[in-house]
Amino acid sequence: MSQIVPVCVTRIQQITPMIREFSFEAVDQKLLPFSSGSHVVVQVPLQDRIIRNAYSLLNDPYDQHHYQIAVRLQEQSRGGSKFMHEQVKVEDQLNISAPLNLFSLNSQAKHHVFIAGGIGITPFLSHMKYLLHAGGSFELHYACRHGLNNAYEDLLIQLFADRVSIYSERTQQRLNIQQLLEQQDLNSHVYICGPDRLISTVVTTADQLGWSAKRVHWEAFSSPIPGAPFDVHLSESQRRIHVPSDYSLLEALEKEGIQVPNLCRGGVCGQCSTRYSQGEVEHLDHYLTHQEQQHFLMPCVSRAQQGHCLHLEL
Ligand code: FES
Repeated sequence: MSQIVPVCVTRIQQITPMIREFSFEAVDQKLLPFSSGSHVVVQVPLQDRIIRNAYSLLNDPYDQHHYQIAVRLQEQSRGGSKFMHEQVKVEDQLNISAPLNLFSLNSQAKHHVFIAGGIGITPFLSHMKYLLHAGGSFELHYACRHGLNNAYEDLLIQLFADRVSIYSERTQQRLNIQQLLEQQDLNSHVYICGPDRLISTVVTTADQLGWSAKRVHWEAFSSPIPGAPFDVHLSESQRRIHVPSDYSLLEALEKEGIQVPNLCRGGVCGQCSTRYSQGEVEHLDHYLTHQEQQHFLMPCVSRAQQGHCLHLEL
């Protein structure tokens, strides 16, 4: 992580049974400005180590006196989201990174079409608040489960009214992606944040309808999920490193003092790309092409297939 910013937790709100919102304010320095779509990496101090998870900033970028994030309690968690939900209290101090934007608005777009699934709503909250100031044209399509992960549903309707369509058990509406994309003109850009299946459906549909890839933007931070333990062999330093089930490969390397460049720690930015020469990989990233995955992996999220030792060119 680049710059470490100490922040104080000033407010915690339970938004849905599985989503908590946290507000952070500066401790000893002014918070850095951010643009809509930015994220911060939060250092979650577990008893035996620090986990670093990326979360989108959801507040208005014009409101720079605090940062707000929302954390979904993950069923398959290494402990980060559970700690945020159960241990973090108001007035606690946490360390976070400076904001970084990997999901910015395209300045050429005349109209922005946002598609969110569940907790994927968070970057769009910031985008839409920004666009209200900037006067940009947008619409939001939000698929969620009523009473579970329908975060900010009432607020969205209150703030953005008919620019918002909700797809849930409550509304009995289903998102028709093909129809939605067919209605758009050539100056519209589409942005997706949510589960992998939603992203790949929109990306594939846009491709089939002849959309240029430059008009399709998505973000999917996935905190690394626990998996079977495995070993890696480092060919340059001739070392063997064990990756426990609740560590990502990146964390195991860092624990051994091996630094790999990283920004998102969630398989989307491409910074940690590492060449490997042997072993079967469970890739889990959203960055590499299928062809690139034959030679490279993303240690922030990728693991070895069961029973394989990976040979990394480190
Ligand atoms: S740190 Fe961004 S892809 Fe690994």
